[in-house]
Amino acid sequence: MRVSIVGSGYVGTTLAACLAEFGHRVVAVDIDESTVADVENGVAPVHEPGLDDLLARHGGDRLRATTDYDRVRDTDVTFLALPTPCDADGRIDTGIIEAGARSLGEALAAKDDTHLVVVKSTVVPGTTEDVLAPVVADASGKTLGEDLLVGMNPEFLREGSAVSDLQHPDKLVFGAREERAFERLRELYAPLRDDSDDHDDSDDSDGDREPETPVVETGIREAEMIKYANNAFLASKVSLVNELGNVCKEFGVDAYEVADAIGLDDRIGAKFLRSGVGWGGSCFPKDTSALVTAARDAGYEPELLDTAISVNDRQPERLLSLLDDHLDVDGARVAVLGLAFKPGTDDVRNSRAIPTIEGLLDRDASVVAYDPVAAENMRAHLPDIEYADSAATALDGADAAVVVTDWDEFAALDDEFEAMCSPVVVDGRRIVTRREGIEYEGLTW
Ligand code: UDX
Repeated sequence: MRVSIVGSGYVGTTLAACLAEFGHRVVAVDIDESTVADVENGVAPVHEPGLDDLLARHGGDRLRATTDYDRVRDTDVTFLALPTPCDADGRIDTGIIEAGARSLGEALAAKDDTHLVVVKSTVVPGTTEDVLAPVVADASGKTLGEDLLVGMNPEFLREGSAVSDLQHPDKLVFGAREERAFERLRELYAPLRDDSDDHDDSDDSDGDREPETPVVETGIREAEMIKYANNAFLASKVSLVNELGNVCKEFGVDAYEVADAIGLDDRIGAKFLRSGVGWGGSCFPKDTSALVTAARDAGYEPELLDTAISVNDRQPERLLSLLDDHLDVDGARVAVLGLAFKPGTDDVRNSRAIPTIEGLLDRDASVVAYDPVAAENMRAHLPDIEYADSAATALDGADAAVVVTDWDEFAALDDEFEAMCSPVVVDGRRIVTRREGIEYEGLTW
């Protein structure tokens, strides 16, 4: 198929590269000229494992990039993969995606054939049909349900494993009204569904064949809500495990032993049970907050989700109150190990390191921070703290250390602690090995 994707962020670029790999001809549209040049030259504009290889294979060939919206006219389907940030009140801000929808509509005005527009971005239920579809229809002069079809196809990929998540998803969700829209979505993702008639189901000797990906075909509002519910559930699961972890700590119980045991219950599941300093990143904070504010605007008070957010907001302060039990932080030199919101990425958006460092600065500590890849990004948020180029340098002469990201290299730290003035380590991710010679405190164990 011929596909265009508006927005070359990490979702848009990963989708573009994977659809090209599936065999489709893809045009990526972005307003940023350097992003466009990267894709044309076969270079990944965002860092994701495996993305460089796909771009090198298809960039400038089956995958083209442009700043010119008119190129969408040569395609059958356009995905809108633009940012949907939160405003200061936590409400979803659809300004960017509405502007993209308008430019798309203007370009489609000169296209005769039917076009399918698929919203990939995370949007509050109702946004696709009540806000975006009318914008495209007005600007294009096309008629919804006739020569303009609209769909919603949420994305569940994680940063740091985006390519693999997109190529091996747990599920595909297609929201649409018309059968013609579902047909195009099925065709686009056919390589993942692998339900073509030509493979022999009776042959179960090929144990390596991947199981078919479940496809949920549903309404547009339902598809929008599934994405929010997915993220709200996962964020709340971590908040619940953090709440239980805080209780465990009061009882002198190891929350990780408890999590391992409850995870054996199929109804609970073993994943997403790591308690600690909480969740961050570009999705959970903005999506939980957008869902809470949208629910409240609609007249429902979402108490449980509200509490999941406040438990998350409190975890960095819990970490610091444990540190307070060991030393007077005022005037102390404190090493912060880990700045990224999770390992495997240089993304510091809503990282728990930010409130942790701010809490230390409020206590008049002097902070020396280290992260293997995220220090430069953190410098933009917090330019005035000291940055070290290794964990060993950060620990050298420090009065205490707090661990905020579970980078593997922190598990291997050993003699490095001996260079600390007083070896107090408060671990927010259960990554440092408890050892003799350090005063070790775990956040929930
Ligand atoms: C998330 C969703 O997983 C993904 O489906 C969606 O498309 C985007 O948002 P991502 O933000 O990349 O993906 O990170 P994820 O790996 O889910 O982790 C989110 C946060 O939760 C991280 O800060 C992580 O450290 C934290 N976390 C996760 C825990 O604290 N404990 C856990 O057990 C799991």
